[in-house]
Amino acid sequence: MANKRHFDVLILGSGLAGLSLALHLADHKQVAVFSKGALSEGASLYAQGGISVVLDAEDSLQAHVDDTLRSGAGLCDEATVQFTVKHARKNVEWLIEQGVSFTKEGTTSETYHLTKEGGHSYRRVIHADDATGREVETTLLSKAQAHPNIQLFPYHLAIDLIQHEQDAEKQCIGSYILDIKNDTIHTFTAATTVLATGGAGKVYLYTSNPDVSTGDGISMGWRAGCRVANMEFIQFHPTCLYHPKAKSFLISEALRGEGAILTLADGSRFMKRFDPQAELAPRDIVARAIDHEMKRLGDDCVYLDIRHKGADFIKQHFPTIYRRCLQLGVDITQEPIPVVPAAHYTCGGLVTDLTGKTDIQQLYAIGEVACTGLHGANRLASNSLLECLVFARSAADDILQHSSTKTLPNIPDWDASRVKPAQEAIAISHNWDELRRFMWDYVGIVRRTDRLRRAQQRLKLIQQEIDSYYSQHNINRDLIELRNLANVADLIIRSALQRQESRGLHYTLDYPNTDTGTAQDTILHRSD
Ligand code: FAD
Ligand code: SIN
Repeated sequence: MANKRHFDVLILGSGLAGLSLALHLADHKQVAVFSKGALSEGASLYAQGGISVVLDAEDSLQAHVDDTLRSGAGLCDEATVQFTVKHARKNVEWLIEQGVSFTKEGTTSETYHLTKEGGHSYRRVIHADDATGREVETTLLSKAQAHPNIQLFPYHLAIDLIQHEQDAEKQCIGSYILDIKNDTIHTFTAATTVLATGGAGKVYLYTSNPDVSTGDGISMGWRAGCRVANMEFIQFHPTCLYHPKAKSFLISEALRGEGAILTLADGSRFMKRFDPQAELAPRDIVARAIDHEMKRLGDDCVYLDIRHKGADFIKQHFPTIYRRCLQLGVDITQEPIPVVPAAHYTCGGLVTDLTGKTDIQQLYAIGEVACTGLHGANRLASNSLLECLVFARSAADDILQHSSTKTLPNIPDWDASRVKPAQEAIAISHNWDELRRFMWDYVGIVRRTDRLRRAQQRLKLIQQEIDSYYSQHNINRDLIELRNLANVADLIIRSALQRQESRGLHYTLDYPNTDTGTAQDTILHRSD
């Protein structure tokens, strides 16, 4: 039986962005937090490297700003970068107050150990061994579970936003949500709704992202009328484990930060041929170099070698990676690790301001779903957990200051009277596979206009099939996610076609140079 519930704030997503926001609001508001899977499941849980923050005496806020701008290849919004970097320390200290335990320099030391990643000019990444995300996510989740004003809804999938139009102004007033376990659709209303649904890595065949990263928030916001920016900038992480049994297991950039080298199958080092910073060049350069070498040699992978650091160092600094690889038969203290690039981070997303506000009243977007201007054309490693923290706090401040007092209209329940159960699921599963395959082959690390157009043609057909299926059948998780993935694929392809230059993460053989004129964001609006 469908029913209606009302809260002050609905937060769609229980990753770092969603949980931080819930905890900032909960002393003042009744908050509902939704996750379409288990509560801890999401990219946040799997983050390895850490969070960038200036703590080293040699380092400076300006150096962090400069590194972020350099990585962003002319497209970062400088005010957003300054804002994020300035608020980093306060937010990391907040995590420590919540009970997050970061790795220290030694057992008796009070100083936090900082690691280094590509594009950073100093050691600047605070971490909890190589499982930073797990430490942060589980600590905040237990805090949220203990708070009387936070209600958590696992296995509840937001389908679409509910809007109300008054005086020609659109306002978001909640969301229709599928209770996956009971197969019922509920109407949740709220004065404020926040999308914290993460990124869209699952649009590609190979990804470091977990299954929940299907771009639902970007797609819901887009359907509701929000602008979407810079979707062509998909970050491919250079080093995911290449193993038939390892589904999306990342080998952290921190290994290269601590001296690991990339080699070909014959043991020869190749990164110096591509960039003077070698293994610590920005991610786009490393990922493209690996892609180039794999294609040139017809190899399935390259290798990451950290053996020279010694077994004790490796086990102490990278216990999770060591254990997982060993389970799969790769002893990283004795042999190089087979690695390949994989889709990792969605730099684009729903356009927001410094408080996470979108184009629609009472709708915010924070975390990977948003495009704040911080990452520009290429995200600096370990800046995204930071972005989740900084924008969760600024959104909370804004929500507390500007609570809407408007009376909400009566909302009709979800109408499923004109659809019937589907006879078979093959149309959905086939389209899932086809979409992710052509996105990998035609819209991947190195692009070409004819490949993008080929992908666009195939996508049109898939979208027609999804629309027809959607209007005739009962919906379920796979169908909703496929519809969202197709939406996101369309936004990526259109943005990539629009950008007639190579910049940051967007590299096209048809326009190999960066336009020397003023750099422009790619902004798509549904009405265009
Ligand atoms: P997520 O943590 O992905 O959470 C999304 C939430 O939304 C989940 O709860 C999900 O269930 C929910 N959701 C999605 N759709 C719906 C829906 N329709 N209805 C209801 N709920 C929904 N960044 C760093 O800065 N440092 C790192 O070291 C680092 N390492 C990484 C390692 C890996 C393997 C990966 C994949 C990413 C890494 N990143 C790292 C990136 C970073 O982890 C993510 O950008 C960040 O965690 C995103 O947080 P989020 O809260 O926006 O989304
Ligand atoms: C990693 O540990 O390599 C991931 C860091 C990031 O994506 O920011």
